[in-house]
Amino acid sequence: MIVIPGPASQILGFKIGNLLKAKVVPLDYKRFPDGEAYIRIDGDIQGEHVAVVQSTFPTDPHLIELFLLLDTVKELAASKITAIVPYLAYARQDKRFRPGEAISIKTIIRLIENIGVDELYTINIHEDAVLSEFKMPIINLSAMNAIGTYLKKYDLKDPYIVSPDQGAEFLAKEVAETLHADVSSCFKKRDLITGEIETEVVKLNVKGRDTVIIDDIISTGGTIVNAAKMLKAQGARRVFVGATHALLIQNARTRIMQAQVEEIIGTDSVLSEVSKISVASLIADALT
Ligand code: R5P
Repeated sequence: MIVIPGPASQILGFKIGNLLKAKVVPLDYKRFPDGEAYIRIDGDIQGEHVAVVQSTFPTDPHLIELFLLLDTVKELAASKITAIVPYLAYARQDKRFRPGEAISIKTIIRLIENIGVDELYTINIHEDAVLSEFKMPIINLSAMNAIGTYLKKYDLKDPYIVSPDQGAEFLAKEVAETLHADVSSCFKKRDLITGEIETEVVKLNVKGRDTVIIDDIISTGGTIVNAAKMLKAQGARRVFVGATHALLIQNARTRIMQAQVEEIIGTDSVLSEVSKISVASLIADALT
């Protein structure tokens, strides 16, 4: 197998290549003054199984690079193409919430499939129901066990795992299983027009206990801030946050820390100052 780390996932791509003991073919890439992307695959890939690693955040520029890269791999006659997109953007727009809306994630996956990609790997996609609509195999890995394992070093007191909304409850359950902890879910409503969120106050048995809020994505941080404030108000001893994709838009990290969170634990699906866990071995193991 040949691994090509895309512009958005250079370090992660090289790590995966090294773990697989695969040949890593580098890329030349740049942006033209008008913002258009340029890529050049710097090696021979004809007849080879090629795995392209490219997350898609910041979103649109990295999506275009992903399409250019996959299509070039196809044109250069690779025998098999594996797309590894740890953070697959647009996954939250997975249905028509209001009449006439684009179901964006379907468009993105359709484009990847139509290029001729043989299989797609991603991690903790927001909602996996949409994946079964495609012929191409799509493997949705989970970083939750890794997050739970990381948290073991804190010797958590009577741990209580919380999802900030019902959509993330199954993720919180995965972490709770790793930590043999209790688990519960909050209820969140989002205004479809303004995007503003409201978290319903639910009474949780967290007094004097260490708590962990688990989500797939941290974007503006609003979801986590609401949940953290609620846990603290109910007497939680410490509040940790674990999320696979920590996008941390604008001052999200500061806002979360101001809500008395001890630590944000993210992965390198999107590289940031909270990337405490690498998903390289999760992906490499899945590929072998
Ligand atoms: C949506 O339900 C997701 O699972 C996350 O909860 C959401 O994307 C977080 O967004 P924000 O950080 O802007 O509240």
